[in-house]
Amino acid sequence: MLVAMSAALAEPVTVSIDARAAGPVIDRHIFGQFAEHLGHGIYDGIWVGRDSAIPNTRGIRNDVVAALKAIKVPNVRWPGGCFADEYHWRNGIGPADKRRAGRNPNWGGVVEPNTFGTDEFMDFVGQIGAEAYISANVGSGTRQEAAEWLEYLTAEQTALGDERAANGHKAPYKVAFWGIGNESWGCGGSMSPEHYVEEMKMYARYSRNYNSAQTMRQIAVGPDGAKPEYTEAVMRAWAGKTWAWNIDGLSLHSYTLNGWPPTVKATGFGEPEYARFIKETLGMEGLIRKHGAIMDRYDPQKKVALVVDEWGSWLAPTPGTDPGFLMQQNSQRDAIVAALNLNIFARHADRVRMANIAQMINVLQAMILTDKEKMVLTPTYHVFKMYVPFQDATLVPARFSAGTYRHGKLEMPRVDAMAARDANGKLWVALTNIDYSRPVDIALALKGLQVNAASAQVLAAPQADSVNTFSAPDTVTPKPLEVKLVRGQPVLTLAPRAVAVVAVE
Ligand code: AHR
Repeated sequence: MLVAMSAALAEPVTVSIDARAAGPVIDRHIFGQFAEHLGHGIYDGIWVGRDSAIPNTRGIRNDVVAALKAIKVPNVRWPGGCFADEYHWRNGIGPADKRRAGRNPNWGGVVEPNTFGTDEFMDFVGQIGAEAYISANVGSGTRQEAAEWLEYLTAEQTALGDERAANGHKAPYKVAFWGIGNESWGCGGSMSPEHYVEEMKMYARYSRNYNSAQTMRQIAVGPDGAKPEYTEAVMRAWAGKTWAWNIDGLSLHSYTLNGWPPTVKATGFGEPEYARFIKETLGMEGLIRKHGAIMDRYDPQKKVALVVDEWGSWLAPTPGTDPGFLMQQNSQRDAIVAALNLNIFARHADRVRMANIAQMINVLQAMILTDKEKMVLTPTYHVFKMYVPFQDATLVPARFSAGTYRHGKLEMPRVDAMAARDANGKLWVALTNIDYSRPVDIALALKGLQVNAASAQVLAAPQADSVNTFSAPDTVTPKPLEVKLVRGQPVLTLAPRAVAVVAVE
């Protein structure tokens, strides 16, 4: 018998897991972040300057670095986004007082001072222990400019390598990921797939990484949501490629929006908006299947990764803020969006080997919000923290009958679950109760494992639109969740709209 049956007004859910079964490794890079020169994402969010009263290390705020280290950010995508295809890296190197200011036409038309440039970004990823994912300018730049940027970053004994050393970094940097443009079907040049493929081949060929201590993976622009044209064209080109070029990943961008322009409110919503938003989020599964099937035709061995390097909630901007800055609060609904997407990526770990939530700080579905010296961690941050044990763990298939959550005509699974075994053999199970108002009893039916103990953390909230603010930062934070062992199997009750991660010893 399940415990606490009275709390859950509907059928209990049993999640069956054979702990000996081994799926693919959940690449830690699916927990990647995205930091664009947009609004307060970089300036104020990361960079406060060396002379700031806000505690910083070489201009980079210490509180943000500590928070990001705690979620083990594996990689950061930079400098955009649409910004990347208008970014000229030379404007952002050398003495700060000599840097050439420009404008940021995509995002509010504000002045871009270029005080945060290549060396500052590499310092930042070094401080948080992440790898660099740099997006080259294919739209308004040239192959030569991109090649020289990489030479500046990674070469020794060349003029550009010497210039980097003169700017304070003698050792070549490690660039783990190199993006060949951003949304070349849209803000990155409105290119036809055929045009993009020709550009891509040449960028892939001439983007040289001179640092032999680091393999650099190149990521091509891929589909805009469900549209298949870029997937077909890039994968067809890859299947017929010559020795002279290669790509390692194909990018997919897909936000949860509920229509364009985004008008869904970040707070002050009820069940209808919650249900519609979660239903759309679950569409990520179909997108990955769709593009994965095209990729399988050209690449059955899954050598090319599907890289979901922009995903997350895109909501109406916070009232009173510059709409070009894409600032939005982050609620428990966003935490559910994060958990469901991460579960989907993990279940497709054989193909989805990297993803980047948009965006890390102060922009869209952020981990962190800042206001001058203040900083607050969002519910989405807490999901990423709870999911740290899944980084590089081995997926273990979980079978369950999810039940149904209904709102009006909308129907979706009531529960989602994902399981993995870490390097020490410990089993981790992520559980989401999608249902807006009903708690759910969940029993784990575990095979191939002697359960000695089980513990869990839960992220629940008073309301679906509960948020953390500078004055109330702990409204939505993880708490211990009681897990009982009933005949040796873990059993728990999960609150409505809540995410739990269970550790089985
Ligand atoms: O993340 C905000 C923007 O969304 C990015 O700059 C662009 O790539 C996408 O359209």
